[in-house]
Amino acid sequence: MENIDWSNLAFGYMKTDYNIRCKYSNGAWGELEVSDSEYLSVHMAATCLHYGQEAFEGLKAFKGKDGQIRIFRMDENAKRLQASCEGTMMAELPIEKFKEAVVKAVKLNERFVPPYESGASLYIRPFLFGTGAQVGVNPSTEYMFILFVTPVGPYFKGGFQTTPFVIMREFDRSAPLGMGKYKVGGNYAASLVAGAKAHDLGYSNVFYLDAVEKKYIDECGAANFFGIKNNTYVTPKSSSILPSITNKSLMVLAEDMGMKVERRPVPVEELATFEEAGACGTAAVISPIERIDDYDKKISYVFSHDGKPGAVSEKLYHKLRGIQYGDEPDVYGWVTIVE
Ligand code: PLP
Ligand code: COI
Repeated sequence: MENIDWSNLAFGYMKTDYNIRCKYSNGAWGELEVSDSEYLSVHMAATCLHYGQEAFEGLKAFKGKDGQIRIFRMDENAKRLQASCEGTMMAELPIEKFKEAVVKAVKLNERFVPPYESGASLYIRPFLFGTGAQVGVNPSTEYMFILFVTPVGPYFKGGFQTTPFVIMREFDRSAPLGMGKYKVGGNYAASLVAGAKAHDLGYSNVFYLDAVEKKYIDECGAANFFGIKNNTYVTPKSSSILPSITNKSLMVLAEDMGMKVERRPVPVEELATFEEAGACGTAAVISPIERIDDYDKKISYVFSHDGKPGAVSEKLYHKLRGIQYGDEPDVYGWVTIVE
């Protein structure tokens, strides 16, 4: 086994041993196939290449102190992929086939699941796309589902540390009746220019407002937003953001910790009232926000003066990670142990 520096992994791609593939044609999904190739051969007129008929997911597997591997809430990712397929007129992969592919890929690449002590995890990337040739704007009749895994460290530099975000009104990520609620590649292509500008300006990511009025908070790059005040967990309700499985889990944990949970439109000015703020997602876990600069209005909303996360964010982070790594009991049935 090559020497992998588990504790210093970035959030990036590393080749692993096997990926799982499944084809859809003649109205039916075939059997799962195991491949050791990182490449695929695709028709040059495939709908994924021209008209963005593509959707993906992201979930993680964790190795516990007990050596067992736990996969977090994969049924939720399976359902969300189906929703993304519905939104792009692609064939939906059955939930059971999705779960079977996840478990198979984790088992076949077990040597790439980072050890408990490293704090790293195995990122699982399922994706589905149209492979049939079309020149007119029509859905494909053929699809391919692929799932690969790769060991990853923290998404934002430094891991559980605060970073700054920026509001820039010159960019929208998605529209209220558009595709923001689906996990489709086009949404990420639409965020690249804004993301590069934010990085150039020294920010970890873009903080998006609603595209219509620029009045309400949407989300933070590839993560949902939450704010904490008066023992309340506040998170935006919006039709243009991705329904985050991490956020859904944190809402449950916050409530069980005795906090109030509010999911509602959050006006941007309300940022001034939060005691803590964070970005949450599979890759981001909880990434506490140091400050949000409103680039156009020249206002800064500051949440941390010493670079440290707030006490509530810290508690939520440890609770979530505890369940994922098996340090805490899985009372919600969120974890699948790989046998
Ligand atoms: N929002 C966007 C745009 C994302 O890409 C992600 C990542 O999946 C999230 C939010 C967080 O969702 P989840 O917690 O399900 O990973
Ligand atoms: C995730 O959190 O799984 C993501 O997909 C974020 C990003 C890498 C797109």
